[in-house]
Amino acid sequence: MIKRLWANRSKAKASLPHTEGIPPENVPEHVAIIMDGNGRWAKRRGLPRMAGHHSGMKTVKRITIEANRLGVKYLTLYAFSTENWKRPKAEVDFLMKLPQQFLEIELEDLIANNVQVKMMGHREDLPPHTLSAVEEAISKTAGNSGLVLNFALNYGSRKEMLETVQAIAADVREGKLTPEQINDELFSQRLLSGELPDPDLLIRTSGELRLSNFMLWQLAYSELWFTDVYWPEFTEQHFHEAIEEYGRRARRYGGV
Ligand code: IPE
Ligand code: IPE
Ligand code: MG
Repeated sequence: MIKRLWANRSKAKASLPHTEGIPPENVPEHVAIIMDGNGRWAKRRGLPRMAGHHSGMKTVKRITIEANRLGVKYLTLYAFSTENWKRPKAEVDFLMKLPQQFLEIELEDLIANNVQVKMMGHREDLPPHTLSAVEEAISKTAGNSGLVLNFALNYGSRKEMLETVQAIAADVREGKLTPEQINDELFSQRLLSGELPDPDLLIRTSGELRLSNFMLWQLAYSELWFTDVYWPEFTEQHFHEAIEEYGRRARRYGGV
């Protein structure tokens, strides 16, 4: 079982004095994370892959708390890609039960902590039990104004962009838009991430140095930070390391 961690917030804070050193202006507004390495973490311990996914869920909790505490406004977590359906059915079924399990335990605390749950992904292919758990969390937290916890669930950037192009093309055909009106801003707004600013910082765990079809448009000018640490063992301290490094980077956007 996942322990309730929100109750230990002050304790967690006390044990992490160095976090106080992060100036608020160095805290990214939007952090996106490719949570990778659950399977390898489990394998290293002689456990089934599912144990890794279960443990990874606890990391989701810890990092959500910490992001909220540091003043991050948006936290996007890559939970399941459009390519992850290729995995064995038992693993896919297990992964599709995780949102439900996570929210059953945590929704109350998420509400109490003013977190807004959102989802970015292709809803049509999700099992009804997965989608309804997420929809419930979205509606119950819709009035909150704190951290936006955005789950990328059945998300694929190429599919997202192609569907957006198709929808825009249909609008052009129907005379609702002219081709000249299609610009950066319009395209961004019509993506699944339309309500969110682009990520400032992308973190990927597990040592893989690739994007795996994640937010290809939105990450154009994001700062990238990679670690060999597997997601279940990713701690608040690793998160701070990433943010501290982010604070030292100069973002030039092609300028000087
Ligand atoms: C990330 O861990 C979780 C998902 C992709 C759902 P993995 O399951 O990819 O773990 P590894 O990469 O096999 O270790
Ligand atoms: C990316 O991890 C997807 C998620 C973390 C949900 P994968 O483990 O699926 O990526 P690849 O297959 O190593 O590129
Ligand atoms: Mg992986």
